[in-house]
Amino acid sequence: MTMDVLGYAAKSAADALVPHSFVRRDPRADDVVIEILYCGVCHSDLHTARNDWGGTEYPVVPGHEIIGRVVSVGPEVTRFKPGDQVGVGCMVDSCQQCAPCNQGLEQYCEETATFTYNSHDRYDQMPTFGGYSERIVASEKFVLKVPDGLDLKGVAPLLCAGITSWSPLRHWNVGQDSHVAVIGLGGLGHMALKLAKALGANVTLFTRSPSKEEDARRLGADSIVISTDEAQMAAVKGRFDLIIDTVPTEHDLNPYLPTLSLSGTLVLVGFLGGLVPTLNTVPLIMGRKSIAGSLIGGIAETQEMLDFCGEHGITSDIEVIEIQDINEAYERMLKSDVKYRFVIDMASLTKN
Ligand SMILES: NC(=O)c1ccc[n+]([C@@H]2O[C@H](COP(=O)([O-])OP(=O)(O)OC[C@H]3O[C@@H](n4cnc5c(N)ncnc54)[C@H](OP(=O)(O)O)[C@@H]3O)[C@@H](O)[C@H]2O)c1
Ligand SMILES: [Zn+2]
Ligand SMILES: [Zn+2]
Repeated sequence: MTMDVLGYAAKSAADALVPHSFVRRDPRADDVVIEILYCGVCHSDLHTARNDWGGTEYPVVPGHEIIGRVVSVGPEVTRFKPGDQVGVGCMVDSCQQCAPCNQGLEQYCEETATFTYNSHDRYDQMPTFGGYSERIVASEKFVLKVPDGLDLKGVAPLLCAGITSWSPLRHWNVGQDSHVAVIGLGGLGHMALKLAKALGANVTLFTRSPSKEEDARRLGADSIVISTDEAQMAAVKGRFDLIIDTVPTEHDLNPYLPTLSLSGTLVLVGFLGGLVPTLNTVPLIMGRKSIAGSLIGGIAETQEMLDFCGEHGITSDIEVIEIQDINEAYERMLKSDVKYRFVIDMASLTKN
């Protein structure tokens, strides 16, 4: 029996999000059905709603920072029971057989992971719809346990902004002796500051916004560099082992490369697509530096990050909104006017 669900959808790239009823797939034996309590608002939701990357199928119901309560479980589900508080991030399934899946890197599944929205179920091909809605169905393997003691609203953004920051920090072995920089203080950036600091690193924020300095220090930055100020950029030459670049639009990497240390890496997590202007390879070659990319994180790694946040009392700094305010929230996100993640209180969905 399929499930009728109410949510908010964009019906074309030019349309605002509006209330939308849709049908979710039948829960299978290994599925968990979740009532959604909170959903974070990621810049990727906006990119997808507006077809910035191409390939959006409409109507699209965005949302992949989902916190909810288990309503029912299929007969093969062993790790969850009705009433449990759980999370769902950017994926709801993957092939579970390829080499990346076997290494717990489902986000790089060779058959392409089933993403939480704008994707298709692997078995019945039904479109997937995200967390700006009442309920979601996910394979048990893709459901996360939420540690006790954290504010649930602030946990929602960990499911994308948190893990997307955590995965490169872990992959590049950030710890006590590391110098880490983060470009851009938005949803991803503020989580990257918090997590890098909690891992013991010395942390710097590159920002265009001097007004964010005080917040950045509170969030974990030891230093702030205004990226448009050449003198400030020159002062950090050769400093960083890892730079996490969260900028969501086309931008020039050249000013940042000299700030990498010998063998340092700039990892792109923000912008998907072609970068201009021309990249000067001299600082790369003269210092064995790398430019890399990274996509969210695997499920085991996501649970590791949630547990770490539980131990360290880390949540996202949020502004709670009602779903009716989502279009205004998108406009504010485009102006970098969010402190530092919007989270939708999904109870607002059914209010008159
Ligand atoms: N790789 C992945 O798996 C993954 C996962 C989630 C999201 N993403 C992508 O990551 C990007 C960031 O997402 P988010 O949710 O953190 O966005 P966000 O909250 O809008 O933050 C982006 C920040 O980047 C800075 N910025 C914005 N425009 C800029 C520009 N033109 N030049 C330089 N800096 C600029 C701003 O910080 P300042 O004011 O401090 O400069 C802004 O706050 C999006 O493109 C999103 O799609 C990727
Ligand atoms: Zn996201
Ligand atoms: Zn796979």
